[in-house]
Amino acid sequence: MPHADFVVVANRLPVDHDPEGGWRRSPGGLVTALEPVMRKSDGAWVGWAGKPDVEIEPFEADGMQLIPISLSAEDVELYYEGFSNDTIWPLYHDVIAAPRYRREWWNAYVAVNRRFAEAAAEAAAEGGTVWVQDYQLQLVPKFLRELRPDLTIGYFHHIPFPAYGLYSQLPWRKQVLEGLLGADVIGFQRVADAGNFARAVRRQLRYETKATGIRVPQEDGSTRVALAKAFPISIDASSYIALAEREDIQARAKEIREELGNPKTILLGVDRLDYTKGIRHRMKAFGELLQDSRVDVEDVTLVQVASPSRERVETYMQLRDEIELTVGRINGDYDTMGHTAIRYLHQAFPREEMVALYLAADVMLVTALRDGMNLVAKEYVASRIDNRGVLVLSEFAGAADELGSSLLVNPHDIQGLKDTIMRAIEMPASEQGRRMRSLRRRVREHDVEDWSDEFLSALAQVRGTEGVGS
Ligand code: G6P
Repeated sequence: MPHADFVVVANRLPVDHDPEGGWRRSPGGLVTALEPVMRKSDGAWVGWAGKPDVEIEPFEADGMQLIPISLSAEDVELYYEGFSNDTIWPLYHDVIAAPRYRREWWNAYVAVNRRFAEAAAEAAAEGGTVWVQDYQLQLVPKFLRELRPDLTIGYFHHIPFPAYGLYSQLPWRKQVLEGLLGADVIGFQRVADAGNFARAVRRQLRYETKATGIRVPQEDGSTRVALAKAFPISIDASSYIALAEREDIQARAKEIREELGNPKTILLGVDRLDYTKGIRHRMKAFGELLQDSRVDVEDVTLVQVASPSRERVETYMQLRDEIELTVGRINGDYDTMGHTAIRYLHQAFPREEMVALYLAADVMLVTALRDGMNLVAKEYVASRIDNRGVLVLSEFAGAADELGSSLLVNPHDIQGLKDTIMRAIEMPASEQGRRMRSLRRRVREHDVEDWSDEFLSALAQVRGTEGVGS
């Protein structure tokens, strides 16, 4: 077993097991965000390989020690699809879909979180640092501290933390707060998320909070201060810029436009197929613009990439059916032989193709009803090295706190969304340039490396240890 000074614990390993042998990079913002940090710090990564019932020995890939956690088919059903994605996910995204509270799921969540904590405890060197990621593993900080009080423990929450009135629905609300408070630093995307967490701690546990510090009583009667603070995540901006500069990718962007019949305007949506993303709202607005003849199918096409996600969870199956029905209806009503209203792609694409799409798209539509951050918004901005293109961004995405030069929208307001899409389509090049330059500055100046540096130095400060990962 390796003894690593720096260990990341996440539900997923940053690679997927390829059925034909070998490993493939896995999709998802989290992986994209952490990979460069891991490479630099020679760390170990504890996570699930993404398939049930496979036992894999620890191995090295891309300069990282990977430590697979095996999940049985039942673990996947109860811990991952059940508690993580049918209880916590909808509850933390403001109950856009109804969360289901099942004791069997909770029991599996506790047991699997314990196993992740045990694996991290085994991998970490004396006095090392462990960084736990996201909502699937909220109990790991506490379990890990019990096993290894010598470790410095960080936790980052990639999704929203809901307002107290919603959070208090959770039957295990106290246990989850106690689980998170096992960490020395609990990081959130937005200031509002950190505030919601501190309030829940005050109300449920009666612990004292002061600014970003929380006094956590210890068994020996002393107290320890945990930090709960916003650290907005970002992307590896320079890698997107490098791709956007490649001639073959620019040529591919042109080709995409041609393949779509050279419309005047390409609107683009890129999301995991998830009910939090507001894909239906976006399609409704676009469908009405066609109906009102404010746009013509010969001139404007919406490309919607919806990558498959959590396909065995009922709410996701329903969403897919609804979206595909909507696409079929809109296309049936408005397509011509040469032009399509919505080009819908239920697929995942490599990064090169995504950057070509970003370059081809005149307007990027990010209309999430609730989103921790939304890295797609930042990827689009980073890729627009030509300082053109318009970002339409939901005010309910964490990215709205930083990307104020976008066109901010309330996706529930369909009339407002329609008017904003029209404004984006008609925006003069000079205004596009002014806004895009300011957006790009922000994303370049605050990339994923700054994010991890800031988090890890806050962690080092709380424990008075040396910084890692920088
Ligand atoms: C979000 C979550 C991540 C998750 C990703 C993909 O970004 O914050 O923790 O990995 O979605 O979802 P999946 O369920 O496929 O891991």
